[in-house]
Amino acid sequence: TKETLIKALSERRKKNGQKNKINKIGFVPTMGALHPGHLSLVEKALKENDIVVISIFVNPTQFNNITDLEKYPRNTEKDLSLLNGVNDDLVVYLPQISDIYGDHAVSIHYDFEGLENEMEGKHRKGHFDGVGTVLTKFFEIINPDRAYFGEKDFQQLQIVRKLVQIESIPVEIIGCSIMREENGLAMSSRNERLSPKQKEGATIIFKTLSEVREKFDTHSIEELEKLVVERFLRDPNIELEYFEIVNEKNLKPLKQKKNDINYRAFIAAFLGDVRLIDNMSLN
Ligand code: PAJ
Repeated sequence: TKETLIKALSERRKKNGQKNKINKIGFVPTMGALHPGHLSLVEKALKENDIVVISIFVNPTQFNNITDLEKYPRNTEKDLSLLNGVNDDLVVYLPQISDIYGDHAVSIHYDFEGLENEMEGKHRKGHFDGVGTVLTKFFEIINPDRAYFGEKDFQQLQIVRKLVQIESIPVEIIGCSIMREENGLAMSSRNERLSPKQKEGATIIFKTLSEVREKFDTHSIEELEKLVVERFLRDPNIELEYFEIVNEKNLKPLKQKKNDINYRAFIAAFLGDVRLIDNMSLN
């Protein structure tokens, strides 16, 4: 809990002759297979808080597909070596499934006012119930002041904002920008499962989003949708699951442009059995 954590860390600080008190706790939830995207969240959290807790937990209740859960990359030793020595003020939390769920790993059903029915919600049934359940547990246990989430999973970020509002959880949710490989591919633990050829092929996702952003002022949404679908159809190595341009606030798809809206484009696509997602602001 927050209290035990603060006590233990305060004592260590005292021993080391450090005087400053611990006030703010930052929290970075992850499922491990850490990459620079995760580390950018940790670094931001360390800058803005006195101590930071990073959790590494492959949450079974958010996987709608058993193969995806089984094949999800796990490498705790490598993760720890990446974090080792980063900072004295970093705490790694590695719970067991039973620590979080007891004997029954089941999720609570949430109403996120419709956010859960768009995009990922349509294609991964129950996914956001699992995310909401595990995060509610984490917030209870850790009781952080601030929690950090990547825009890579933009729908998740908006849903977490809704979750803490609905459940009155006193934590500030901070969104962080997407970290990309040099070729534009959004960093993701799932990229580890791609062959070098697939990794190269996956850059079509970023290229397409960038093209949509460039053409957004001069093309209609319908034209852009057609362009994207055709672009993916021409490529035999990747299968488009969805492309949507939505209102950032409620994640509802837009068929026509309107005034005073923040637009964002989203793509989900398969390379073999690896499913990747990405998104980009169009404003
Ligand atoms: P995971 O996919 O491990 O991601 C952990 C956090 O890292 C998320 O907030 C995600 O958006 C962020 N992240 C991943 N790739 C990123 C990138 N390229 N740039 C910036 N941020 C990135 O998301 C989850 O785990 C789980 O759903 C979780 C919230 C831990 C609940 O189980």
